[in-house]
Amino acid sequence: MARDTDSDTQANIGRRIVGSIFPRSPIPRTDADRRRTILEFLVLHMRPVRVRRSTVRYTHTFGLGGMSLVLIALLMASGILLMLAYDPSPEHAYRSILSLQDGMLFGATVRAVHHWSANILVAVVLFHLLRVFFTGAYHGPRRFNWVIGLGLLVGILASNFTGYLLPWDQLSYWAVTICTGMLGYVPGIGEWLQAFARGGAEIGRGTLVLFYSFHTTVVPVILIVLMAFHFWRVRKARGVVSPHPQDSQENDDSEMVLTLPNLLVRELAVGLTVVAVVMLLAALFEAPLGAPANPGMSPNPAKAPWYFMGFQELQIHLEPLIAVVILPVLGALGLILLPYLHFDHELSGPWFLSKTGRTTGALAAMVALVVTPLLILIDEFWLQQTGGAGWPAIGVIAAGITAFAVCLSKKFKPEKAEFVQALFILFLVGFAILTITGVWFRGPGMALAWPWIGAPA
Ligand code: HEM
Repeated sequence: MARDTDSDTQANIGRRIVGSIFPRSPIPRTDADRRRTILEFLVLHMRPVRVRRSTVRYTHTFGLGGMSLVLIALLMASGILLMLAYDPSPEHAYRSILSLQDGMLFGATVRAVHHWSANILVAVVLFHLLRVFFTGAYHGPRRFNWVIGLGLLVGILASNFTGYLLPWDQLSYWAVTICTGMLGYVPGIGEWLQAFARGGAEIGRGTLVLFYSFHTTVVPVILIVLMAFHFWRVRKARGVVSPHPQDSQENDDSEMVLTLPNLLVRELAVGLTVVAVVMLLAALFEAPLGAPANPGMSPNPAKAPWYFMGFQELQIHLEPLIAVVILPVLGALGLILLPYLHFDHELSGPWFLSKTGRTTGALAAMVALVVTPLLILIDEFWLQQTGGAGWPAIGVIAAGITAFAVCLSKKFKPEKAEFVQALFILFLVGFAILTITGVWFRGPGMALAWPWIGAPA
């Protein structure tokens, strides 16, 4: 069985394989010859020659990491085109977007491609994180790559958020006002942080220039560096985690297949599907553009972008310090430290780890699905009428979570990884419900409303 331990051997194997797929022409330097050399250079110097058959199966990763890469490429290509037309000043930004949309050939389409790629990217990266988490692919040689991945997630959210302001319309102006306002709740340095994020005391020229520089230069450079590091770590861990737990990295005797064509063809199929979906959405739905920014009058309701909406919803129910400082910091710390917890058994490979993992996970999801909407309703229609939910409410929620954790441990005796997974699912489903409530079920004055009654102003 071929192993890619030595790069010299690997290059030779690679040459032989490519040679068998694209036989060398009897006349040297033909087009076929050149194509073969380019393919060999591009594919087999970045990828291993062989990969495990089980990891190529589409349902193992759903190609989510590759999709993220394709979306980033689409964003960069459409972003460069947008830069040719955009003017980053409060006086001209909005008008430059209007003239791009109305006066330039394919201007609206390029903007829509950028808009849809950016939003789909956030969703796809979150699903990729979940895939990695639920297959336990954050142990051993993949530990640090999990942390790099978190850096990528922060970069993508930062890129999305800084781009959100650029059209300088009511939607973007007030969304950025709300989100940067949340920073003000950080004890001690809140005001300083808020002024830093706004590039001044108020949202204005300084904010736009700061966001534009971050969006077009700082964040893309960081993303490119982190992505290179991320891919290199996947390669160093000898590919993605195997769905069969018995295939340890050191003693791997599972069946291997050639990267070219087995993996490459699947990656191409995923990549082309993503491009097709984005193009279709861009052709059917334009990127939104509200009225020009008016610092004197906020829309009602004024909402954060959808990926931060869970925090805005939390802020309605809990003390701002808890909702936008303590809980996010605890969540971020939990995610960073996750691979470094001392697990008795580093369960990884199959989806949801094991049978116990699947049962406890399903139970946690059901509890969150029932309890979160109930808590939202109790707070909205009862506690807020009688003075609002404060620290005591947090105490009750913490006691509930502790009781759930104790019952889970006693009944199922899960491994540490299964236990952590169940708690993760509890918080994940709870946060998803908060986000859905904020995005679709909040109307004027941020009161609960049916989505089909009272569309946002
Ligand atoms: C720009 C964003 C990202 C890109 C382009 C990206 C790309 C990739 C690719 C191509 C792979 C290998 C194949 C696959 O799993 O689909 C991968 C694996 C991995 N990614 Fe990401 N990723 C990104 C963000 C993240 C995030 C947010 C996390 C988690 C915090 C993460 C953690 C990992 C880990 C631990 C692996 C190894 C998984 C395994 O061995 O099974 N990545 N990534």
